[in-house]
Amino acid sequence: MWRSSGWRRRMSSSSSSSPSLLHLALCCVTTLFALHFCAAAKPPKVGFGYRLVSIEESTNGGGLIGYLQVKQSTSAYGPDIPHLRLFVKHETQDRLRVHITDAEEQRWEVPYDLLPRDQPPPPGAKASSSPFTSSEYAGGDLIFSFTSDPFTFAVRRKSNGQTLFDSSYGTMVFKDQYLEISTHLPKTAALYGLGENTQPGGIRLRPNDPYTLYTTDISAINLNTDLYGSHPVYMDLRNEGGEATAHAVLLLNSNGMDVFYTGSSLTYKVIGGLLDFYFFAGPSPLAVVDQYTTLIGRPAPMPYWALGFHQCRWGYQNLSVVEGVVEGYRNAQIPLDVIWNDDDHMDAAKDFTLDPVNYPRPKLLEFLDRIHSRGMKYIVLIDPGIAVNSSYGVFQRGMAKDVFIKYQGKPYLAQVWPGPVYFPDYLNPDGVSWWIDEIARFHELVPVDGLWIDMNEASNFCTGKCELPTNHSCPIPGSTTPWVCCLDCKNLTDTRWDDPPYKINASGSRAPLGFKTIATSATHYNGILEYNAHSLYGFSQAIATHKALQGLQGKRPFILSRSTFVGSGALAAHWTGDNKGTWDDLRYSISTMLNFGLFGMPMVGSDICGFYPAPTEELCNRWIELGAFYPFSRDHANFASPRQELYQWESVAESARNALGLRYKLLPYLYTLNYEAHATGAPMARPVFFSFPNFTSSYGLSTQFLLGASVMVSPVLKKAATSVKAMFPPGTWYSLFDMTKAVVSQDDRSVTLDAPLNAVNAHVYQNTILPLQRGGTNSKEARTTPFTLVVAFPFGATQGDAKGCVYVDDDERPEMKLAEGEASYIEFYATVSGSTVKVWSAVEMGAFSLEKGLLIEKVCVLGLQGNGQGLVVEVDGEPWADAAGAHFTESHAVMHQAKLEGGSKRTSMIVEVGGLSLPLGKTFSMTWKMGINE
Ligand SMILES: *[C@@H]1O[C@H](CO)[C@@H](O)[C@H](O)[C@H]1NC(C)=O
Ligand SMILES: *[C@@H]1O[C@H](CO)[C@@H](O)[C@H](O)[C@H]1NC(C)=O
Ligand SMILES: *[C@@H]1O[C@H](CO)[C@@H](O)[C@H](O)[C@H]1NC(C)=O
Ligand SMILES: *[C@@H]1O[C@H](CO)[C@@H](O)[C@H](O)[C@H]1NC(C)=O
Ligand SMILES: *[C@@H]1O[C@H](CO)[C@@H](O)[C@H](O)[C@H]1NC(C)=O
Ligand SMILES: *[C@@H]1O[C@H](CO)[C@@H](O)[C@H](O)[C@H]1NC(C)=O
Repeated sequence: MWRSSGWRRRMSSSSSSSPSLLHLALCCVTTLFALHFCAAAKPPKVGFGYRLVSIEESTNGGGLIGYLQVKQSTSAYGPDIPHLRLFVKHETQDRLRVHITDAEEQRWEVPYDLLPRDQPPPPGAKASSSPFTSSEYAGGDLIFSFTSDPFTFAVRRKSNGQTLFDSSYGTMVFKDQYLEISTHLPKTAALYGLGENTQPGGIRLRPNDPYTLYTTDISAINLNTDLYGSHPVYMDLRNEGGEATAHAVLLLNSNGMDVFYTGSSLTYKVIGGLLDFYFFAGPSPLAVVDQYTTLIGRPAPMPYWALGFHQCRWGYQNLSVVEGVVEGYRNAQIPLDVIWNDDDHMDAAKDFTLDPVNYPRPKLLEFLDRIHSRGMKYIVLIDPGIAVNSSYGVFQRGMAKDVFIKYQGKPYLAQVWPGPVYFPDYLNPDGVSWWIDEIARFHELVPVDGLWIDMNEASNFCTGKCELPTNHSCPIPGSTTPWVCCLDCKNLTDTRWDDPPYKINASGSRAPLGFKTIATSATHYNGILEYNAHSLYGFSQAIATHKALQGLQGKRPFILSRSTFVGSGALAAHWTGDNKGTWDDLRYSISTMLNFGLFGMPMVGSDICGFYPAPTEELCNRWIELGAFYPFSRDHANFASPRQELYQWESVAESARNALGLRYKLLPYLYTLNYEAHATGAPMARPVFFSFPNFTSSYGLSTQFLLGASVMVSPVLKKAATSVKAMFPPGTWYSLFDMTKAVVSQDDRSVTLDAPLNAVNAHVYQNTILPLQRGGTNSKEARTTPFTLVVAFPFGATQGDAKGCVYVDDDERPEMKLAEGEASYIEFYATVSGSTVKVWSAVEMGAFSLEKGLLIEKVCVLGLQGNGQGLVVEVDGEPWADAAGAHFTESHAVMHQAKLEGGSKRTSMIVEVGGLSLPLGKTFSMTWKMGINE
């Protein structure tokens, strides 16, 4: 949503009411000045590195432990830590950990209870060990090697000898508030990740773009800047000698950092914590995300309905307006599963309350009964800031349990939408139990189906140490600018946490770390400094919220979080935050979505049609045509924009019916991708190189993407375009809107596809079997309809095979797993060999889908030659009793227009076997012959 108070910030600080970059520009002027000044004097040497004093190997395979001594101390950014402890372990066959910390003192690291993982031995622990005399330490495909003086380390891939990481490129520096380490990178390395950030250059990281990681309420319209989340991980994809390999590197650290990527090196500059590297061996992109999510937690399973379409707006003034929106979708026959409220339902923006006038509870409950009975869902927003108001129960109970973040022993005072607030401390076990209880109470008040946790970077309208003003009220009654700070505040510069020696490029302007967030010298439970835990705030809130919903409803939780960290994907979905209704923002949304797939957070999308200002009708058409294929598909707008529900324009409604119509047919495929994501970390929306890693032309491709392994989406991203230039890896790609059209690609030359205003280009790749259903206007209806299997062979094939699968369950259970009676998983196979075609299934678990009565009504085979004859169908190995109803339909020749060299045309057939009613969950097989015709 919204709000970017980042946007608000700008609105309030420039005299024009149109959001502008003026404010940021002003900040830059002052900081640039300082930078130039610094650059004039040669920067002092920050460190001289370390020397390895000793290294031992634990005799029970517990890893290497080494000790390092600083070579020479410097005072730049504070004194060096004299002695370091190195711990190296091949934690699995494909994961290597290199952990470096102070040998004497415990240092801050991401808490093990928030992100469960193995703990290195405590400093000074004595295990039976013997001196390690080699300079290489191998495990799986990764080899760790090191030099002693100076101490540097490298990671190599055993199978092809590539050096993946090599710290000898720079000097390792380790101070209390400044850590630096670099790696050399070969020119062949294509890098991805390091977010959250809006990347105008597309998904592939660009040399010399800034990558600053620090969670901040800065809207997504700001390019190359630290946005809402922090994900210090990158994937490195290299194609050397025609064979691509991928690996990833995670620096697990929650402190603010700048990452400098030059194209031939990468340097981390981190302001605290320690160096805790994880190397994931790959070697395929899918293996990388599998290994990554094994460590950080598998993506959260989503309920089926969450894959439907969502509508939201900040500014649904009352319940009648919301009811009207639901009716608007119904009348326009546009699918809708979930209706949302931003904060309009709240009483004076206070969490867990209802506005008694505009959202009276009895009427709201009636409305929810009505939509729930249709299978639709309702989600509302909450913010972390709790209004300071002694007659507000949530606040009273929080005070009684002492759950708020402190500054000098008292709750830290900030300002958000309700006015003065305190921020709950989700690192405090009492804070978590209080939050769980408040959510349970709220659920009694309103049976919501999910929660949207916003503003959790955390966003604060004020900066520094603030007090309630004594000479005026705050918020100012009737204020039309509730985002302007009305507390009495003073900036904090007096501690090294508020004003650390090294300034990361926070907010793209080297803003103070505490700027418009919690003061970095504030403290959490157990004295934990906000300085260290800042970027974990949204993550810790998601953990608490997940516990609350899981325990409460006994159902699979749905949470949408704006701020995220490593591991958030196991709990929540994400949207890309406040964007603009511009063609550029439409394009940026693809890269950010794909990045979150790499971050283990596949349920992601952008505000469709843009959060603000008014989109053009044409843009909104194109946006729903793309957004219908975001894993998380939601239209959302700001109160200041005109209404932009998809039915507001007839042309947009038509595009929505087309695009969402296909999405709702694809729901079984999307739900199976959701299952795969949960089981293996595989992103739902993927860069093209995930399926075609050897196809180097796709390494920077950010204008198209894959859903799963084999559905290509090629959206229009330009104004006034009626065609789209798209790139297709070699092979046949069939249009999902018109299966008589195919692209047969032989190389990386782009193909021009027709794209009139209401049309979408989505193609399925050869060798695929895609499970579709009939669709519908909500997922509850759609999921009971009969299935069609689309079998795609290479164009004109007389030899080929294809496969696919489907996962179904009832999504009422918190876990998504294959358990007999609770879920079904069926694999589909097909072959064509000469004139013989065979399509069959292998049932891993079938009872659930049988009980639900799910049926396959049609099999549609693409790419064959000739006409089908002599159909034989068997179920469970016996001739199928209802075979009389089975027949070939549309089996006459259909022209495929292949884009071939010289514009030549070839034809093949679409063979539909209709009139089936094969129970999904029983094995079937069908064979027939293709006769020669024409
Ligand atoms: C990539 O190319 C290599 C070498 O030709 C080959 O072994 C490998 O199977 C290819 N990978 C894919 C996914 O096509
Ligand atoms: C709800 O809000 C709309 C738009 O402001 C207004 O026209 C309508 O009268 C309101 N309805 C009720 C019941 O308050
Ligand atoms: C405090 O909360 C109560 C109850 O929700 C509300 O009626 C009152 O207006 C609030 N006071 C202020 C100053 O916001
Ligand atoms: C309230 O007092 C502060 C500090 O003295 C001053 O800056 C501010 O202008 C005063 N505001 C009003 C509304 O009087
Ligand atoms: C506090 O710091 C912010 C950010 O650097 C700056 O814009 C503002 O002017 C400062 N306020 C005061 C009172 O110094
Ligand atoms: C800081 O970030 C801004 C915004 O992306 C960028 O323009 C600027 O070059 C960055 N500064 C440095 C020193 O990286």
